[in-house]
Amino acid sequence: MKTKIIKINPKKPEISKIKKSANIIKKGGLVAFPTETVYGLGANGLNKNAVKKIFKAKGRPQDNPLILHISNINQLSSLVEKIPKNAEKLIKKFWPGPLTIILKKSKKVPEIITAGLDSVAVRMPKNKIALELIKSSGCPLAAPSANLSGKPSPTIAEHVIEDLNTKIDAIIDGRKTDIGLESTVIDLTQEPSQILRPGKITKKQIEKIIGKINNKKSKSKKPRSPGMKYRHYSPKAKIFTIQNKKQLKEILKKYPDKRTKILKYRTKIKMGKNLFKDFREADKNDFKIIIVWNVKEKELGNAIMDRLKKASS
Ligand code: TXA
Ligand code: MG
Repeated sequence: MKTKIIKINPKKPEISKIKKSANIIKKGGLVAFPTETVYGLGANGLNKNAVKKIFKAKGRPQDNPLILHISNINQLSSLVEKIPKNAEKLIKKFWPGPLTIILKKSKKVPEIITAGLDSVAVRMPKNKIALELIKSSGCPLAAPSANLSGKPSPTIAEHVIEDLNTKIDAIIDGRKTDIGLESTVIDLTQEPSQILRPGKITKKQIEKIIGKINNKKSKSKKPRSPGMKYRHYSPKAKIFTIQNKKQLKEILKKYPDKRTKILKYRTKIKMGKNLFKDFREADKNDFKIIIVWNVKEKELGNAIMDRLKKASS
Protein backbone atom coordinates (compact mmCIF):
# COMPACT_ATOMS: atom_id res chain seq x y z
CA MET A 1 0.00 0.00 0.00
CA LYS A 2 1.18 3.52 -0.70
CA THR A 3 1.46 5.54 2.51
CA LYS A 4 0.42 9.17 2.13
CA ILE A 5 2.59 11.71 3.92
CA ILE A 6 0.49 14.69 5.01
CA LYS A 7 2.35 17.72 6.34
CA ILE A 8 0.25 19.69 8.82
CA ASN A 9 1.16 22.86 10.68
CA PRO A 10 1.14 21.96 14.40
CA LYS A 11 0.37 25.52 15.46
CA LYS A 12 -2.50 26.03 13.01
CA PRO A 13 -3.66 22.70 11.57
CA GLU A 14 -5.09 23.10 8.05
CA ILE A 15 -8.73 22.00 8.26
CA SER A 16 -8.85 20.42 4.80
CA LYS A 17 -5.87 18.18 5.62
CA ILE A 18 -7.36 17.18 8.97
CA LYS A 19 -10.64 16.28 7.20
CA LYS A 20 -8.78 14.19 4.63
CA SER A 21 -6.98 12.31 7.44
CA ALA A 22 -10.21 11.86 9.42
CA ASN A 23 -11.89 10.37 6.34
CA ILE A 24 -9.26 7.64 6.27
CA ILE A 25 -10.00 6.88 9.94
CA LYS A 26 -13.76 6.86 9.27
CA LYS A 27 -13.26 4.31 6.50
CA GLY A 28 -11.40 2.01 8.91
CA GLY A 29 -7.87 2.99 7.88
CA LEU A 30 -4.70 3.73 9.88
CA VAL A 31 -3.25 7.22 10.30
CA ALA A 32 -0.11 8.01 12.32
CA PHE A 33 -0.28 11.40 14.04
CA PRO A 34 1.74 13.49 16.48
CA THR A 35 0.82 13.92 20.12
CA GLU A 36 2.69 15.95 22.74
CA THR A 37 4.50 12.77 23.88
CA VAL A 38 5.32 10.59 20.85
CA TYR A 39 3.68 9.77 17.50
CA GLY A 40 0.65 7.49 17.74
CA LEU A 41 -0.75 5.00 15.22
CA GLY A 42 -4.46 5.81 15.13
CA ALA A 43 -7.58 3.90 14.15
CA ASN A 44 -11.28 4.16 15.01
CA GLY A 45 -11.22 2.71 18.53
CA LEU A 46 -14.78 1.39 18.23
CA ASN A 47 -14.16 -0.48 14.98
CA LYS A 48 -12.75 -3.95 15.71
CA ASN A 49 -11.43 -4.54 12.23
CA ALA A 50 -9.66 -1.20 12.10
CA VAL A 51 -8.04 -1.88 15.49
CA LYS A 52 -6.90 -5.31 14.30
CA LYS A 53 -4.89 -3.59 11.58
CA ILE A 54 -2.90 -1.69 14.23
CA PHE A 55 -1.64 -4.92 15.79
CA LYS A 56 -0.75 -6.28 12.37
CA ALA A 57 1.12 -3.16 11.16
CA LYS A 58 3.18 -2.89 14.36
CA GLY A 59 3.71 -6.60 14.87
CA ARG A 60 2.27 -6.05 18.35
CA PRO A 61 1.28 -8.99 20.57
CA GLN A 62 -2.53 -9.24 20.74
CA ASP A 63 -2.52 -9.36 24.53
CA ASN A 64 -1.06 -5.86 24.92
CA PRO A 65 -3.97 -3.40 25.27
CA LEU A 66 -4.25 0.02 23.60
CA ILE A 67 -4.95 3.55 24.84
CA LEU A 68 -8.12 5.32 23.62
CA HIS A 69 -7.52 8.99 22.78
CA ILE A 70 -10.38 11.47 23.18
CA SER A 71 -10.74 15.17 22.40
CA ASN A 72 -13.66 15.99 24.64
CA ILE A 73 -14.32 15.02 28.22
CA ASN A 74 -17.93 14.07 27.30
CA GLN A 75 -16.56 11.12 25.33
CA LEU A 76 -15.24 9.51 28.51
CA SER A 77 -18.49 8.53 30.24
CA SER A 78 -19.58 6.14 27.50
CA LEU A 79 -16.21 4.34 27.55
CA VAL A 80 -16.03 3.60 31.28
CA GLU A 81 -18.31 2.09 33.90
CA LYS A 82 -18.01 5.11 36.14
CA ILE A 83 -15.74 8.08 36.72
CA PRO A 84 -14.45 7.96 40.30
CA LYS A 85 -13.75 11.17 42.19
CA ASN A 86 -9.95 10.74 41.92
CA ALA A 87 -10.21 10.35 38.15
CA GLU A 88 -12.29 13.51 37.97
CA LYS A 89 -9.67 15.44 39.94
CA LEU A 90 -6.76 14.21 37.84
CA ILE A 91 -8.60 14.94 34.60
CA LYS A 92 -9.43 18.44 35.74
CA LYS A 93 -5.80 19.11 36.56
CA PHE A 94 -3.91 17.28 33.80
CA TRP A 95 -6.10 16.93 30.67
CA PRO A 96 -5.37 17.62 27.93
CA GLY A 97 -1.88 16.34 28.76
CA PRO A 98 0.47 13.38 29.10
CA LEU A 99 -1.52 11.38 31.65
CA THR A 100 -3.27 8.11 30.75
CA ILE A 101 -5.84 6.87 33.25
CA ILE A 102 -7.08 3.32 33.56
CA LEU A 103 -10.69 2.77 34.63
CA LYS A 104 -13.22 -0.06 34.48
CA LYS A 105 -14.39 -0.36 30.87
CA SER A 106 -17.94 -0.07 29.58
CA LYS A 107 -19.54 -2.58 27.21
CA LYS A 108 -19.02 -0.18 24.33
CA VAL A 109 -15.23 -0.72 24.32
CA PRO A 110 -14.27 -3.66 22.08
CA GLU A 111 -12.32 -6.50 23.73
CA ILE A 112 -9.50 -6.13 21.22
CA ILE A 113 -8.71 -2.68 22.68
CA THR A 114 -8.34 -3.96 26.23
CA ALA A 115 -6.90 -7.38 25.32
CA GLY A 116 -9.73 -8.96 27.26
CA LEU A 117 -9.11 -6.97 30.49
CA ASP A 118 -12.08 -5.37 32.27
CA SER A 119 -10.29 -2.01 32.30
CA VAL A 120 -9.54 0.57 29.62
CA ALA A 121 -6.79 3.17 29.26
CA VAL A 122 -7.87 6.66 28.14
CA ARG A 123 -6.10 9.95 27.56
CA MET A 124 -6.66 13.37 26.03
CA PRO A 125 -3.49 14.49 24.23
CA LYS A 126 -2.29 18.09 24.32
CA ASN A 127 -1.57 18.59 20.64
CA LYS A 128 -3.74 20.57 18.23
CA ILE A 129 -3.36 18.13 15.33
CA ALA A 130 -4.28 15.16 17.54
CA LEU A 131 -7.28 16.93 19.07
CA GLU A 132 -8.60 18.13 15.69
CA LEU A 133 -8.11 14.70 14.15
CA ILE A 134 -10.03 12.98 16.95
CA LYS A 135 -12.81 15.55 16.74
CA SER A 136 -13.14 15.28 12.95
CA SER A 137 -13.07 11.48 13.09
CA GLY A 138 -16.03 11.55 15.46
CA CYS A 139 -14.78 8.62 17.55
CA PRO A 140 -12.13 7.83 20.14
CA LEU A 141 -8.84 6.91 18.46
CA ALA A 142 -7.03 3.77 19.53
CA ALA A 143 -3.35 4.67 19.31
CA PRO A 144 -0.24 2.91 20.51
CA SER A 145 3.12 4.52 19.78
CA ALA A 146 3.67 4.46 16.00
CA ASN A 147 6.80 2.29 15.98
CA LEU A 148 7.32 -1.33 15.03
CA SER A 149 7.10 -3.45 18.19
CA GLY A 150 10.55 -3.55 19.76
CA LYS A 151 11.72 -0.19 18.36
CA PRO A 152 11.81 3.11 20.26
CA SER A 153 8.72 5.32 20.14
CA PRO A 154 8.84 7.81 17.24
CA THR A 155 9.32 11.50 17.98
CA ILE A 156 9.52 12.71 14.37
CA ALA A 157 7.55 11.66 11.26
CA GLU A 158 10.74 10.21 9.71
CA HIS A 159 10.85 7.56 12.44
CA VAL A 160 7.30 6.51 11.57
CA ILE A 161 8.23 6.36 7.89
CA GLU A 162 11.25 4.17 8.76
CA ASP A 163 9.06 1.69 10.63
CA LEU A 164 5.64 1.76 8.95
CA ASN A 165 5.97 3.05 5.38
CA THR A 166 3.78 0.96 3.00
CA LYS A 167 2.09 -0.68 6.02
CA ILE A 168 -0.41 2.09 6.88
CA ASP A 169 -2.64 4.54 4.98
CA ALA A 170 -1.15 7.84 6.05
CA ILE A 171 1.38 9.60 8.25
CA ILE A 172 0.73 13.13 9.44
CA ASP A 173 4.01 15.03 9.71
CA GLY A 174 3.41 17.53 12.50
CA ARG A 175 7.08 18.09 13.34
CA LYS A 176 8.98 16.96 16.41
CA THR A 177 6.95 15.99 19.46
CA ASP A 178 7.23 18.14 22.52
CA ILE A 179 8.04 15.73 25.35
CA GLY A 180 9.58 12.76 23.56
CA LEU A 181 8.65 10.16 26.21
CA GLU A 182 5.36 8.28 26.46
CA SER A 183 2.58 9.41 28.83
CA THR A 184 2.43 8.57 32.52
CA VAL A 185 0.01 5.66 32.98
CA ILE A 186 -1.96 5.42 36.23
CA ASP A 187 -4.26 2.57 37.21
CA LEU A 188 -7.28 3.89 39.12
CA THR A 189 -9.23 0.63 39.12
CA GLN A 190 -7.79 -0.60 42.40
CA GLU A 191 -7.07 1.01 45.75
CA PRO A 192 -4.42 2.23 46.15
CA SER A 193 -3.93 3.68 42.70
CA GLN A 194 -0.66 2.81 41.05
CA ILE A 195 1.61 4.31 38.42
CA LEU A 196 2.26 1.67 35.78
CA ARG A 197 4.53 3.77 33.59
CA PRO A 198 6.40 6.91 34.70
CA GLY A 199 6.23 9.95 32.43
CA LYS A 200 6.32 13.72 32.36
CA ILE A 201 3.57 13.98 34.96
CA THR A 202 5.24 12.79 38.13
CA LYS A 203 4.10 10.81 41.15
CA LYS A 204 4.61 13.92 43.25
CA GLN A 205 2.33 15.99 41.01
CA ILE A 206 -0.31 13.27 41.14
CA GLU A 207 -0.10 12.85 44.91
CA LYS A 208 -0.63 16.55 45.33
CA ILE A 209 -4.07 16.07 43.75
CA ILE A 210 -5.26 12.68 45.08
CA GLY A 211 -3.00 11.91 48.05
CA LYS A 212 -0.61 8.99 48.58
CA ILE A 213 -0.52 6.33 45.88
CA ASN A 214 1.03 2.89 45.82
CA ASN A 215 4.74 2.91 45.36
CA LYS A 216 5.55 -0.75 45.62
CA LYS A 217 5.97 -2.84 42.54
CA SER A 218 3.07 -5.28 42.42
CA LYS A 219 4.11 -8.64 43.84
CA SER A 220 1.52 -10.63 41.92
CA LYS A 221 2.79 -12.60 38.94
CA LYS A 222 0.23 -11.10 36.63
CA PRO A 223 1.49 -7.62 35.74
CA ARG A 224 -1.05 -4.83 36.14
CA SER A 225 0.14 -3.49 32.81
CA PRO A 226 0.50 -6.22 30.19
CA GLY A 227 2.98 -3.97 28.35
CA MET A 228 5.44 -4.38 31.21
CA LYS A 229 6.15 -8.00 30.43
CA TYR A 230 7.39 -7.36 26.91
CA ARG A 231 10.99 -6.87 26.00
CA HIS A 232 11.53 -3.20 25.54
CA TYR A 233 13.61 -1.54 22.91
CA SER A 234 17.34 -1.66 23.33
CA PRO A 235 19.81 -0.37 20.76
CA LYS A 236 22.29 -2.70 19.08
CA ALA A 237 25.07 -0.91 20.93
CA LYS A 238 25.97 -1.73 24.52
CA ILE A 239 24.78 1.06 26.81
CA PHE A 240 26.71 2.38 29.80
CA THR A 241 25.36 5.02 32.11
CA ILE A 242 27.88 7.15 33.95
CA GLN A 243 27.98 9.81 36.65
CA ASN A 244 31.49 11.22 36.36
CA LYS A 245 34.57 11.64 34.20
CA LYS A 246 36.41 8.84 35.95
CA GLN A 247 33.79 6.34 34.79
CA LEU A 248 33.90 7.83 31.32
CA LYS A 249 37.67 7.37 31.11
CA GLU A 250 37.46 3.79 32.34
CA ILE A 251 34.98 2.80 29.65
CA LEU A 252 36.91 4.56 26.90
CA LYS A 253 40.05 2.81 28.06
CA LYS A 254 38.38 -0.58 28.14
CA TYR A 255 37.00 -0.29 24.59
CA PRO A 256 39.58 1.81 22.75
CA ASP A 257 38.66 0.78 19.23
CA LYS A 258 34.91 0.35 19.45
CA ARG A 259 32.77 2.95 17.71
CA THR A 260 31.50 4.95 20.69
CA LYS A 261 28.77 7.55 21.03
CA ILE A 262 28.59 9.75 24.12
CA LEU A 263 25.21 11.24 24.98
CA LYS A 264 25.19 14.23 27.28
CA TYR A 265 22.30 16.65 27.58
CA ARG A 266 22.16 20.08 29.10
CA THR A 267 18.73 19.62 30.68
CA LYS A 268 16.34 16.79 31.50
CA ILE A 269 13.79 18.34 29.16
CA LYS A 270 16.26 18.13 26.26
CA MET A 271 17.20 14.60 27.25
CA GLY A 272 13.57 13.47 27.22
CA LYS A 273 12.99 15.09 23.85
CA ASN A 274 16.03 13.58 22.15
CA LEU A 275 16.81 10.25 23.78
CA PHE A 276 14.76 8.01 21.46
CA LYS A 277 15.93 9.91 18.38
CA ASP A 278 19.55 9.54 19.46
CA PHE A 279 19.11 5.81 20.05
CA ARG A 280 17.78 5.40 16.53
CA GLU A 281 20.64 7.43 15.11
CA ALA A 282 23.23 5.42 17.03
CA ASP A 283 21.79 2.26 15.51
CA LYS A 284 21.81 3.71 12.01
CA ASN A 285 25.43 4.82 12.40
CA ASP A 286 26.43 1.44 13.71
CA PHE A 287 27.81 2.57 17.06
CA LYS A 288 28.91 -0.32 19.28
CA ILE A 289 29.02 1.55 22.58
CA ILE A 290 26.69 4.27 23.86
CA ILE A 291 27.73 6.14 26.98
CA VAL A 292 24.96 8.18 28.59
CA TRP A 293 25.43 10.72 31.33
CA ASN A 294 22.97 9.88 34.12
CA VAL A 295 20.33 12.15 35.54
CA LYS A 296 18.89 12.06 39.05
CA GLU A 297 16.10 9.55 39.29
CA LYS A 298 13.41 11.98 40.34
CA GLU A 299 10.59 13.77 38.54
CA LEU A 300 11.20 13.77 34.77
CA GLY A 301 14.51 12.04 35.54
CA ASN A 302 12.53 9.08 36.83
CA ALA A 303 10.81 8.61 33.45
CA ILE A 304 14.10 9.08 31.60
CA MET A 305 15.98 6.57 33.76
CA ASP A 306 13.10 4.09 33.39
CA ARG A 307 13.55 4.14 29.59
CA LEU A 308 17.35 4.07 29.89
CA LYS A 309 17.37 1.08 32.21
CA LYS A 310 15.04 -0.82 29.91
CA ALA A 311 17.20 0.03 26.91
CA SER A 312 20.37 -1.12 28.64
CA SER A 313 19.04 -4.35 30.16
O1 TXA B 1 2.16 8.82 25.21
C1 TXA B 1 1.52 7.79 24.98
O2 TXA B 1 0.88 7.19 25.85
C2 TXA B 1 1.54 7.27 23.53
C3 TXA B 1 0.80 8.28 22.65
C4 TXA B 1 0.66 7.82 21.23
O3 TXA B 1 -0.45 8.58 23.22
N1 TXA B 1 0.93 5.97 23.45
C5 TXA B 1 1.52 4.86 23.93
O4 TXA B 1 0.80 3.69 23.73
O5 TXA B 1 2.61 4.87 24.49
P1 TXA B 1 1.44 2.23 23.88
O6 TXA B 1 0.41 1.30 23.38
O7 TXA B 1 2.75 2.21 23.22
O8 TXA B 1 1.58 2.05 25.43
C6 TXA B 1 0.42 1.89 26.23
C7 TXA B 1 0.75 1.19 27.53
C8 TXA B 1 1.17 -0.25 27.31
O9 TXA B 1 2.25 -0.55 28.19
C9 TXA B 1 -0.08 -1.04 27.70
O10 TXA B 1 0.24 -2.33 28.17
C10 TXA B 1 -0.67 -0.17 28.77
O11 TXA B 1 -0.42 1.17 28.35
N2 TXA B 1 -2.14 -0.36 28.89
C11 TXA B 1 -3.10 -0.06 27.98
N3 TXA B 1 -4.32 -0.42 28.43
C12 TXA B 1 -4.13 -0.94 29.65
C13 TXA B 1 -5.01 -1.52 30.65
N4 TXA B 1 -6.33 -1.60 30.45
N5 TXA B 1 -4.46 -1.97 31.80
C14 TXA B 1 -3.12 -1.88 32.02
N6 TXA B 1 -2.25 -1.36 31.13
C15 TXA B 1 -2.74 -0.91 29.97
MG1 MG C 1 4.63 1.69 22.64
